[in-house]
Amino acid sequence: MTASDDDLVAAAELAQKNAYAPYSRFRVGAALCVGERVFVGCNVENASYGATICAERGAIMAMVVAGQAAPDKIAIFTDGDEPAMPCGLCRQVLIEHNLKMVVLTATPSSRRSMKLSDLVPEPFVLKR
Ligand code: THU
Repeated sequence: MTASDDDLVAAAELAQKNAYAPYSRFRVGAALCVGERVFVGCNVENASYGATICAERGAIMAMVVAGQAAPDKIAIFTDGDEPAMPCGLCRQVLIEHNLKMVVLTATPSSRRSMKLSDLVPEPFVLKR
């Protein structure tokens, strides 16, 4: 069993409330699930702009530090009408942990569901 889409979007919306985005004022919440376990992140900006951490990567860090792996699904919640797509850096981090994961993007008024593998058709992977 995995967390439902509704539960994951609700968790991402809750996480968005803690976003620290004084520079862009673009607040992002993310929630991913490993089975029924949910891990959340929000964007945390920094005066040294490059040190900003996106919401998706925050959720991945929370998952890894909890000793979990291979997320099934991630929900990303932003304001506005059009859902925001994960940035290139986050896509690269997400594929590291499961290229087959589902990506849900949501706003208060819309929702989209897609496969990470469609967002990253030719992923960079390092053979180990
Ligand atoms: N941001 C995310 O949290 N996730 C993304 O995939 C794209 C961008 C954040 C970073 C920054 O705090 C703000 O959105 C504007 O770029």
